[in-house]
Amino acid sequence: MRGRFITVEGIDGAGKSSQIAHIVELLRSRGLEVVSTREPGGTRLGERLRELLLHEPMNLETEALLMFAARREHVAQVIEPALARGAWVVCDRFSDATFAYQGGGRGLDLHKIAQLEDWVHGKLQPDLTLVFDLEPEVAAGRLARAGNAPDKFEREQTGFFARVRAAYQARAANDPKRVRLVDADRLPHAIRDDVEALVRGLLQS
Ligand code: TYD
Repeated sequence: MRGRFITVEGIDGAGKSSQIAHIVELLRSRGLEVVSTREPGGTRLGERLRELLLHEPMNLETEALLMFAARREHVAQVIEPALARGAWVVCDRFSDATFAYQGGGRGLDLHKIAQLEDWVHGKLQPDLTLVFDLEPEVAAGRLARAGNAPDKFEREQTGFFARVRAAYQARAANDPKRVRLVDADRLPHAIRDDVEALVRGLLQS
């Protein structure tokens, strides 16, 4: 039986990482094979492209094209083979991030992104996408407290993240069965309960 594909999204500082670890643990406790991966990245080439994407200034179209180049490699080398052998794939960001960041955040024409999406993974869509939703100001506070050196995206102003957030919310409104907003401005255990309920729903479907 083919595996299931879960993607996790949200603005920088939304707190995806600890929740992803929990999803992976939950699925493994059910005896499932789980591939935990990320974008941009997930392959040798993809990780090299990630370095460029996160640190090198570039033209907006170049940024979108490199995101999708990394994604093509990831889908072909990792995601499709895993799903085909029955593994579950949990991916930290996927194409919704391109619609949100390059589309919403930077203003790239969404039709162009949709064309690239169709080209790169026409038939493949996540079975479930969790979007951790919170105010950009709250997310910025979390990033500042974490104290890591900010990458190109994390250096953006809150106005940018407000547009990214709105784009994610629009994706959820347009595809409410797949894209689920999770209120991320709560204590970790409350967020975790919602995440668990959504993942259990997918396990039962
Ligand atoms: P992120 O997933 O936040 O990694 P970390 O938690 O290690 O910081 O970093 C990836 C960054 O790349 C994030 O700022 C969003 C951005 N991004 C895009 O702009 N477009 C995309 O299509 C993807 C996949 C990511």
